[in-house]
Amino acid sequence: MKKRLLILGGTGDAVELAAKASQIADIEVISSLAGRTKQPLTPKTGTVRIGGFGGATGLAEFLRCSPIDLLIDATHPFAAQISANAAIAAVECNVPHLMMVRPGWEMVEGDRWIEVANHSEAATALSGQSQRVFLTIGRQELAAFAGLDAIWFLMRAIDPPAPNTPVPNGKLLLARGPFSLADERQLLLEYRIDTIVSKNSGGAATYAKIVAARELGIPVVMVQRPPIPDVEQVADVEGAISWLVEQL
Ligand SMILES: NC(=O)c1ccc[n+]([C@@H]2O[C@H](COP(=O)([O-])OP(=O)(O)OC[C@H]3O[C@@H](n4cnc5c(N)ncnc54)[C@H](OP(=O)(O)O)[C@@H]3O)[C@@H](O)[C@H]2O)c1
Repeated sequence: MKKRLLILGGTGDAVELAAKASQIADIEVISSLAGRTKQPLTPKTGTVRIGGFGGATGLAEFLRCSPIDLLIDATHPFAAQISANAAIAAVECNVPHLMMVRPGWEMVEGDRWIEVANHSEAATALSGQSQRVFLTIGRQELAAFAGLDAIWFLMRAIDPPAPNTPVPNGKLLLARGPFSLADERQLLLEYRIDTIVSKNSGGAATYAKIVAARELGIPVVMVQRPPIPDVEQVADVEGAISWLVEQL
């Protein structure tokens, strides 16, 4: 009988994992998306379910009722709540659980990073220092910058912010990565950006802006990742596939 794998997704890595895991004969793949974006990146293989589970308790119930044999958390490194819930639910239901965590970006020569712990520290770092800021943090954290009236913001997100969300003064660009180095360089020059705010997401899809900033000598306020649960981890899809094969 096939083992049922639940992939917590919402990333390009999760889509790739679903495709590769579906090729393993003894695995049935179920991917889960939060339902945040209007046109999500949806795996083309296996089943897809959309929407929250209702906290760790709801996820545990889902694991029991489906039932799920294996759990891989392939969510974004900043999606801390679902990862914490997954760790709790997996222990409660005794389901083998792996986190696929892509490595963070490391500062290299020429980078001018100001590393901060969260978005509110990022806002403090900008205050009095920057005039034209590229906010590449998505739409969920925009409110942290809404009080900085002296700064003009170029904000990039996949979908517009929810109605009634406080949004900083500036321009909203709706776009989904990957972004090329030429386009990122052009954007920084066209909008005369003097500072970038970025999450340390890791991966190649959104790294071009960091390279463009390095080339142009633009500082990057880099928001560090939230802590992750203490569970077994791999860095990429290949590692996750090896783990899956070990579980069969
Ligand atoms: N945060 C980012 O910067 C970022 C960037 C790119 C993609 N994403 C993706 O966007 C999704 C939401 O991110 P977030 O930062 O809002 O997450 P979060 O703060 O960790 O999660 C908030 C709640 O959203 C629901 N949820 C999150 N991911 C889910 C999934 N894959 N399947 C079902 N429910 C999920 C859960 O609701 P219940 O408690 O009701 O189960 C969770 O408690 C994630 O899937 C993540 O991979 C996030």
